[in-house]
Amino acid sequence: MINLSALAVLAAFLVQANAVPVYGQCGGIGYTGSTVCDSGSTCVYSNDWYSQCLPGGPTSAPPPSSTYTPPPPTTTTTPTTSVPPPTTTVAPPTGTGLQARIAAKGKLYFGTCADAGTLNNAQNSNIIKAEFGQLTPENSMKWDSTEASRGSFNLGGGNTLVNFAQSNGKIVRGHTLVWHSQLPGWVNNIGDRNTLTTVIQNHATTLVTQWKGKIYGWDVVNEMFNEDGTIRSSVFSRVLGEDFVGIAFRAARAADPSAKLYINDYNLDSNNSKTQGMVRYVNKWKAAGVPIDGVGTQMHLSAGGSSGASAALTALASTGCDVAITELDIASAPGNDYAAVVRACLAQPRCVGITVWGVADKDSWRANTNPLLFDNNYQKKAAYNSVISALA
Ligand code: G3I
Repeated sequence: MINLSALAVLAAFLVQANAVPVYGQCGGIGYTGSTVCDSGSTCVYSNDWYSQCLPGGPTSAPPPSSTYTPPPPTTTTTPTTSVPPPTTTVAPPTGTGLQARIAAKGKLYFGTCADAGTLNNAQNSNIIKAEFGQLTPENSMKWDSTEASRGSFNLGGGNTLVNFAQSNGKIVRGHTLVWHSQLPGWVNNIGDRNTLTTVIQNHATTLVTQWKGKIYGWDVVNEMFNEDGTIRSSVFSRVLGEDFVGIAFRAARAADPSAKLYINDYNLDSNNSKTQGMVRYVNKWKAAGVPIDGVGTQMHLSAGGSSGASAALTALASTGCDVAITELDIASAPGNDYAAVVRACLAQPRCVGITVWGVADKDSWRANTNPLLFDNNYQKKAAYNSVISALA
């Protein structure tokens, strides 16, 4: 006789075994992977192209039912051999925008993310020119964008971002060299140490060399920790243990000795277990000679989520590293939360700057929460004024 409850347990196990980790993609046009999120997270519709597993219970709209077929990509492969000399400097503190105000407070930059799509929008790029001093490529330097098949590099999207930044006096944070997400299948399928070591070295060396002297800092390793501060299971940790960290940072250092090398993660929003795990490991790796210069805390916050920001920055700075707020956005953009995060950075000597993860709400990866400083019509929101007040 079939034991139905055993079958149900087995089915639940199989579903969970195939679950998408938090912040992984779980839906969107053209997406063919699992739509089930790890326990404790829910698949949230962001736009027609993208749904994502976010921490917490069900709050989401259903995924889209559109049958639109996306056009083929138009990017081209770019040679990676010529490396122009370093020219980038920090944007001067002129004007009255966010960059001028944070520079007047002794910080390096107030930045945002962008890529070809948002840079081609004049309203968006005019705001970037007037307000921001730093750019992070939102997607174009990720592994799936840059090396979709082994040894064949597409650096056109990154070039667009870097060229815009250079032409407009913005510094660049490179994002990101080693990340378990947005990772092509061919990397995920590697099973031996030597191959994966060579592949990481080649990927990091190629990207860092391409923009040598034009990138202020790199997110060398992204999102490698679990919430309890242990190391996340990924192809990198399964095949190489924690050695992949040193392999990636050393390759990046060799390729551009002047770039600041960061380890970056989310939910480092208070002095919690994940923050403490990050601090423990960074201290250990630095003592072993791994060239880590900075720790990035993404700060994708909920409303009210700013209360631990100061404690998080203090804990991360205890490593002796620089600290950066790398992807700030706050659901519904409460002015008091934005101001508290800005004040936390100003009060922490090791905090070098703040990057918000987008300009206008409608272009945000979490557009349905209106988390940014500019509304859908590219107008300044109350949160913008709160940030300006905090920088006064
Ligand atoms: O534009 C393409 C389209 O041409 C293509 O056909 C389609 C196929 O799926 O994808 C479209 O690209 C999507 C892209 O966003 C632009 O909307 C990608 O699928 C989608 O995966 C991508 O989502 C990005 C996400 O990272 C995953 O890489 C978000 O824009 C980006 O904001 C988000 O940023 C991450 C940080 O890198 C790391 N920390 C968390 C943060 C938020 O998830």
